[in-house]
Amino acid sequence: MAIIDVENLAKSYGDVHAVRGIDFHVEQGEIFALLGPNGAGKSTTVEILEGHRARTSGSVSVLGYDPTERDRAYRERIGIVLQETAVEDQLSVKEAIDIYGSMYPKHRATGELIEIVGLEAKTDARIKTLSGGQRRRLELALGIVGDPDLIFLDEPTTGFDPSARRQAWTIVENLASLGKTILLTTHYMDEAQHLANRVAVMADGLIVAEGTPESLGDRQSKKTVITFVAVGVSTDSLGLADVSTGDNGRIVISSDEPTRDLHTITGWAISAGVELTDLSVTRPSLEDVYLELTGSNDE
Ligand SMILES: Nc1ncnc2c1ncn2[C@@H]1O[C@H](COP(=O)(O)OP(=O)(O)OP(=O)(O)O)[C@@H](O)[C@H]1O
Ligand SMILES: [Mg+2]
Repeated sequence: MAIIDVENLAKSYGDVHAVRGIDFHVEQGEIFALLGPNGAGKSTTVEILEGHRARTSGSVSVLGYDPTERDRAYRERIGIVLQETAVEDQLSVKEAIDIYGSMYPKHRATGELIEIVGLEAKTDARIKTLSGGQRRRLELALGIVGDPDLIFLDEPTTGFDPSARRQAWTIVENLASLGKTILLTTHYMDEAQHLANRVAVMADGLIVAEGTPESLGDRQSKKTVITFVAVGVSTDSLGLADVSTGDNGRIVISSDEPTRDLHTITGWAISAGVELTDLSVTRPSLEDVYLELTGSNDE
């Protein structure tokens, strides 16, 4: 059974058509990521699913509920980390988690949550004294305090330092391994690549591509790029078709057959007696494909 079922969903704010007819489904235990540039309609979509906004048209079923009905039983089964939240900032970290937890019939222990998000040293600190990233960690704790079956995370790791981001990923992975379903938005392609089972790219209120991070935008069939620096030799004798020179004299080769072409390149280097400095072999990243799909790359 799909946990989230969205059909032909549209939302307009006056004459701003923020979401213009999208369909997607999320199965239980999946981590589904919505990607897309600023203003694409991600938060609008997430907030409609949470029951925070009314839709203009289309149908939405989440855990079997229509979120607009704001059923209490529905709200007890979901956890929310909004893009922007207004937590009472005179409270301490511990007090906030206690209060939020008391609103749910089953809730996780405050101490355990503080530990999960790494705020032990700030247990009794007032929220207004937290740094941006610490505050975001608290918001993550508040989003999962009710032990929800479905968790909405709207840019959960914005402002996190790299190690906090890794910790947050582990939290999300642990939640998914417990069978929880997660709808995530993010601007970090490495986050989507690492966490998501499936991603949908939104642009201008529409879903322009959907698939696994590996398959998105036909990524697997794109060329491999081989680059290296070879000082003091010409690549003319290499005999490969797609050779160009990039920044700092770096040789750039696009290849459909990287195994064969690498063999050619290393053979050529050995017979010419040159070292291939900084040799790298890369496939287009999710970010490359994303930029191509959203038309926001320079090329
Ligand atoms: N309350 C509102 N009133 C009017 N327009 C709004 C409102 N909320 C959002 N919009 C508009 O709807 C569009 C989609 O906004 P939304 O917040 O869903 O984008 P987003 O994909 O979450 O972007 P970001 O990556 O910046 O968070 C934008 O053009 C935005 O200006
Ligand atoms: Mg947003």
